[in-house]
Amino acid sequence: MRPTLISLSVWAFAAGLIAACTPEEMPEASDGRALFMENCAVCHGSDAKGEGPMARALENAPPDLTLIALRNGGTFPAVNVLSTIDGYTKTTPSGPNMPEFGALLEGDLVPLDTGDGILTPTPRKLVALLEYIESVQASR
Ligand code: HEC
Repeated sequence: MRPTLISLSVWAFAAGLIAACTPEEMPEASDGRALFMENCAVCHGSDAKGEGPMARALENAPPDLTLIALRNGGTFPAVNVLSTIDGYTKTTPSGPNMPEFGALLEGDLVPLDTGDGILTPTPRKLVALLEYIESVQASR
């Protein structure tokens, strides 16, 4: 049984090396989904279609976030979406329509390329939300 044990530990070592060498792990849509449920679903709905429990109490109806790409001629406008979310994080809570999302800016920064080929250090949680919203885009 000894050779098996040895080869097992060689494998474990190799797997560890590979894990250690992978570049910075980028957030995924599933990470963003959790953040979305926590911070956004109350207005935008848990399916992101704009029918959250708080939607009717708002002066401006929250838009259907699954149609952003379609509304933009089929292209997901990552920069615009990012700055919209970022804008929310920066508003001071001055009324019921002004949620505070400062916590989304906490944590580490990850390199994000929004399509211009330039990697911009961006808060991980914002990138996670962006990935999630992009992942729920309707194709038609
Ligand atoms: C208190 C209700 C409310 C919450 C909470 C909320 N939103 Fe919104 N959102 C709105 C409303 C209303 C609009 C449309 C008017 C505007 O742009 O302010 C909007 C617009 C947007 C847009 C622009 C959509 C478009 O078609 O361009 C995005 C993207 C967005 N929200 C993402 C988010 C994300 C991500 C969160 C959670 C971090 C969030 N929202 C939380 C109410 C909300």
